[in-house]
Amino acid sequence: MNEELKRIKDELTNCINQALNLKELGEARVKAFGKTGLISALSKNMRDVPVEDRPKLGSAINVLRSEIEELLKEKENKLENEELERKLQEEKIDITEPSIKVELGAYHPIADVIDRLADICVNMGFTVVEGPEIESDYYNFEAMNIPKNHPSRDMQDTFFISEDILLRSQTSAVQAREMETRKPPFKIICPGKTYRNDSDATHSPIFHQLEGLVVDENISMADLKAMLTILMKRLYGEDTKIRFRPSFFPFTEPSIEVDVSCPNCHGQGCNLCKGSGMLELLGAGVVNPKVLEISGIDSKKYRGFAFGFGLDRTAMILNSISNIKNLYRNDIRFLEQMK
Ligand code: DAH
Repeated sequence: MNEELKRIKDELTNCINQALNLKELGEARVKAFGKTGLISALSKNMRDVPVEDRPKLGSAINVLRSEIEELLKEKENKLENEELERKLQEEKIDITEPSIKVELGAYHPIADVIDRLADICVNMGFTVVEGPEIESDYYNFEAMNIPKNHPSRDMQDTFFISEDILLRSQTSAVQAREMETRKPPFKIICPGKTYRNDSDATHSPIFHQLEGLVVDENISMADLKAMLTILMKRLYGEDTKIRFRPSFFPFTEPSIEVDVSCPNCHGQGCNLCKGSGMLELLGAGVVNPKVLEISGIDSKKYRGFAFGFGLDRTAMILNSISNIKNLYRNDIRFLEQMK
């Protein structure tokens, strides 16, 4: 019987040693301990052994069983390590190999200006809203205190789609929409596309504005001036000088235009500011009480201020772009420089 045990041990040891992978090792395990495995068979054959020999044989089988278990475990560890080693070798990354160049796009200068202005305004408590680009004559003009045949309509050469529908010529159109739906006090800005029939080096038929509107009790021109001063300094730098000039807009009374010292020459005079040292940036004013009333806001209780930025001009100034058309041509050589 001892010889039989030895023969089985040798056979299983051979099988285990020869296993080249975990699958073959699995087969060796079945050969030993499977239902019809060699060691299982030994236990089954116990009943043919004389009773007095059984304890000895039993413990010999147990020894064999644990020896084979041990061998299987060892071999399993070895194969697993080999497998890991092989994977590490195969999946090794050569960090000296030149990489494939990924072309990253650049952020468009207009999107960048909108982000910067929105950041500054949101910090001051403004909410960002949007309005439709295809707008009614009512919101674009009438609700802004510009009735049909009013001479100030000539200030904007509008694209009409029909008698009452147009491509909005100013983001001011969003003012009335917001006043109709919001309860004061509120502070909103609306960046977006605007359209006018106008085209030269500084005008494009499609351009961008950012409208701002604050409605609250006791609003005055002083609030507007303070807010715009902070806004301009945050956008162009602390040393920026700001100039307010009287102006006219039908929706504000009084109205102002706002200039800033040229960030290129700091007021000395250069090409960008055409020698004047200042750049005209936006229109603003205290909201005309008529405009509040048209949209259902009690002008005895509430007042407001509003402002409208030209974003293309702002982007051109911040990036020293001389022709507005560059913003719309999508010339890759131009956009590359915006990275
Ligand atoms: N909507 C005016 C324009 O396009 C700009 C403007 C001026 C907006 C004064 C305002 C404002 O909100 O108060 O020329």
